[in-house]
Amino acid sequence: MTRVPPPRTDPVPGLRAATAHDAEALAEIHAAAFGPDAWSEVVFAAQFAIPGVFGLLHAADGLVLARVAADESEILTLGVVPSARGRGIGADLLRRAGEIAAGAGATCMYLEVAVGNAAARRLYARAGFEEVGRRPGYYSDQQDALVLRAPLPPEQRSETGAGSQGPRRRRKS
Ligand SMILES: CC(C)(COP(=O)(O)OP(=O)(O)OC[C@H]1O[C@@H](n2cnc3c(N)ncnc32)[C@H](O)[C@@H]1OP(=O)(O)O)[C@@H](O)C(=O)NCCC(=O)NCCS
Repeated sequence: MTRVPPPRTDPVPGLRAATAHDAEALAEIHAAAFGPDAWSEVVFAAQFAIPGVFGLLHAADGLVLARVAADESEILTLGVVPSARGRGIGADLLRRAGEIAAGAGATCMYLEVAVGNAAARRLYARAGFEEVGRRPGYYSDQQDALVLRAPLPPEQRSETGAGSQGPRRRRKS
């Protein structure tokens, strides 16, 4: 099983580790960020039971859930409420998730993004993500999903990170 160390205190004000106890707050932020496609409180609570899953909250403004499986990691979901966008919160959440995943032994991070999601694509491109695949008609509105990948810098990785027995990567939208 992949073990993810508890996220350290982050210098970014308002950023903290999320747990299953935060499921209600996570669902509220997700609803504001994603509208009808948002995950419920029950879905969020269930995520934390999956090996390798960890989460971060930025006050009541943003969230990220990610998963480490062996030497790979993936962003499960990332969102910032509309009133807090454009201040770098999304970038902070993404960067910190990468640091935590690297500390747990991941050497790369994957995610999926809708081809028409300009803000998210810009955020990911600035963070070093590059397209490695495409899933035609993946989303409910028939948009294609781009599969993006970024290497995680070696200096972020833990020498005692995840071993080779962890579960394989499983993608979620
Ligand atoms: C994508 C999202 C997380 C970004 O959060 P954020 O806190 O605004 O992110 P940041 O402030 O760190 O950076 C956003 C970047 O997108 C850019 N951006 C914002 N709106 C944009 C738009 N309509 N078109 C192009 N770029 C845009 C910003 O200028 C910024 O880029 P810059 O740093 O080069 O100036 C947020 O818009 C969101 O929650 N969207 C809805 C949910 C979603 O799509 N999640 C991602 C699913 S893969």
